[in-house]
Amino acid sequence: MERQSTSGCRRRDATRTRLGRAGVLLALCVWPRAHPNGSLRAPEPTSSLAATGRSDTLRDPPVLRNLSRTPRTVEVNLTASPVQLALRPGSPTEAYAYNGSVPGPTLEVHEGDRVIIHFRNELPEPTTIHWHGLHIPAAMDGSPLTPVAAGARFDYVFTVRRGTAGTYWYHPHPDVRSGYQIAKGLFGAFIVRANDDPLRMIPEKLLILSDNRFNADGSVQFADPRSVEGIRDEVNGREGDVLFVNGQLAPSIRIRSGQVQRWRVINVTAARLFRLGLVGHTLLHVGNDGGLFERPVEVSRIDVANSERVELLVRGTGSPGDRAALQMLPYDRYVPQTRPHDWDIARDLLTLTYTMAPRTTTPPVPALLRRVPALDTSAVSATRVLVLSQGLINGQMMDMARIDVHSTLGATEIWQIENVVGMDHPFHLHGFEFQVLDRNGAPEPFRSWKDVVNVPKHETVRIIVRFDDFPGLWMYHCHILDHEDHGMMGVLEVGPPSPRART
Ligand code: C2O
Ligand code: CU
Ligand code: CU
Repeated sequence: MERQSTSGCRRRDATRTRLGRAGVLLALCVWPRAHPNGSLRAPEPTSSLAATGRSDTLRDPPVLRNLSRTPRTVEVNLTASPVQLALRPGSPTEAYAYNGSVPGPTLEVHEGDRVIIHFRNELPEPTTIHWHGLHIPAAMDGSPLTPVAAGARFDYVFTVRRGTAGTYWYHPHPDVRSGYQIAKGLFGAFIVRANDDPLRMIPEKLLILSDNRFNADGSVQFADPRSVEGIRDEVNGREGDVLFVNGQLAPSIRIRSGQVQRWRVINVTAARLFRLGLVGHTLLHVGNDGGLFERPVEVSRIDVANSERVELLVRGTGSPGDRAALQMLPYDRYVPQTRPHDWDIARDLLTLTYTMAPRTTTPPVPALLRRVPALDTSAVSATRVLVLSQGLINGQMMDMARIDVHSTLGATEIWQIENVVGMDHPFHLHGFEFQVLDRNGAPEPFRSWKDVVNVPKHETVRIIVRFDDFPGLWMYHCHILDHEDHGMMGVLEVGPPSPRART
């Protein structure tokens, strides 16, 4: 443990100068003059298949095969390794993949299941698998505190809590290298199904939204950290000009007129916020990170920050033969000096294609999906303020040997997260789903379970969380991977219950 922490800090030191330079760039940003280099232009979007009129049907990633015959047990093998793959159409180049596929295979489990993942790290570097959003013991969380060395194996074993049916995902979380490993292809979906799912009759699609940048030979492109592009990545978070859904370019989803589909959307990008809109349609927003709401909410667009998930119902209100684009609409999360030149241009992610079959009817969506009990604000034992500035939380970079927040098992707390800078930071807490209380003092209109909340520039969000299980060390951080890797992260210790707190 001691050794890990030290090496973690040493490696972080190497990035400190770079972060310092980003700080200088940001300092420059307050001046009305342009950055000396003039325009910080994003790469031109490459032509997508949509532009050529061809569009593949959206495919689901493979589902991991359950090796167990024991009821309520899911046992799988998962291996991370370098592979030769064409991440975009073209010749194969080196990528990283879970079981050889990008996105990685989907884990499908039920509430209450015992899950055993036999993990092998065949990468040439340490990694972890973090089960983003799951409420499991700290030792199984795959945080930077528990690296799996190159060539080593680790069994992740945990039980999926009841009441947590929802859409989660898994990704590497090693110290300072998460952004790199995820960009190389390591991410996958983790779906927890309810035994009494109110929407089980509705056909379902999984949409994993990712982006990437490529060199001419098709290999994943990373900017030289000393270049203007590298500094822009450091500030904005690395964005790719090529947008994927389940690893496909501009695929299509078929729908029959009158049909309803349930889409589970996961944003696995390093930094992008997808403001989603389906041309000519409204969407029924039915769930967030931790599963379904009490009641569907009708919206014309929906924001999905990086690492967030949403569940929505798409209603086939069009006519046979119609087409509609699912678009990424403009959203300005940037400081002006590093804002991409094309940020305000809507881009198509996929096409909804109506079949020629005559309109059908589907049973109505239940008015009550499930109960989401409110966490009890009168039980709050501490209110903490977390100030997000550029690259820092409460003025500090992460040190794995330091504990930033001491809490106790059983405590209910309010965390007031204040973003004091001019770009958005999506805030994520490991291990414990929370509820958003209010944003800039305005109460959240409906309750949902969340594990990440985007905190827009100069805004304040208050969340409530209960540390009802699993003592240990937990990370909280900005989920822009470049910020996280540079230490925009803190350590929470959930300690044994304090005797005074127990009555
Ligand atoms: Cu998906 Cu620590 O994060
Ligand atoms: Cu997490
Ligand atoms: Cu951030």
